Amino acid sequence: MATTEVNKPSKYSVELVFATNNAHKLNEVRAIAGARCSIISLKELGCYDEIPETGDTLIANALQKAKYIHDKFHCNCFADDTGLEIEALNGKPGVYSARYAGEHCSFKDNIQKVLYEMQGISNRKACFKTVIALIVNEENYFFEGKIDGEIMESEKGINGFGYDPVFKPLGYDKTFAEMTEDEKNSISHRALATKKLNNFLQTCPILK
Ligand code: IMP
Repeated sequence: MATTEVNKPSKYSVELVFATNNAHKLNEVRAIAGARCSIISLKELGCYDEIPETGDTLIANALQKAKYIHDKFHCNCFADDTGLEIEALNGKPGVYSARYAGEHCSFKDNIQKVLYEMQGISNRKACFKTVIALIVNEENYFFEGKIDGEIMESEKGINGFGYDPVFKPLGYDKTFAEMTEDEKNSISHRALATKKLNNFLQTCPILK
């Protein structure tokens, strides 16, 4: 693997590159990853590319990102793709969650657009879905996580990223952005998908 300055602690038996430029996601996944797995960032890999993401499903995008890094660096790696699906908006923003308010828009812009479109709508049901695509030893594997919740009338909380200030998970009285990192990591869509990835890595015979 072409890495720059990567320390490989001996206690880890699996080294996986996480194909993301999102530091929040990297921290979340590292906090959840099991002791068996060392997560290498793109920065540590020496990759500063804008990874293409042109699919029209979460699975297609996650695989496209993982394949890009796998093909370029010939390493075992994974990528995730996440979408916020709002029932009253027919599943939007969905796979277009990152650029819902337009090319180069901010998290704030996306939230403003969602709140505007949800004005006066009483059905606030929504969910976050994450798909992780893993490529190990030339094989593709997929892991999914989903959490149901609802869209708030206004932003609440300052933690997390993306749509966190307007998403309240079902059964909780605060938004993701009002939760600590540990609280969000114990229930989130990405946590569920990452736990499935971890379980797979613990038992995967091809990695033993
Ligand atoms: P991505 O393509 O997986 O990076 O996710 C697309 C967009 O979904 C991001 O730009 C964020 O706006 C949003 N998103 C992804 N994960 C989360 C999350 O955990 N909380 C809130 N928003 C998220």
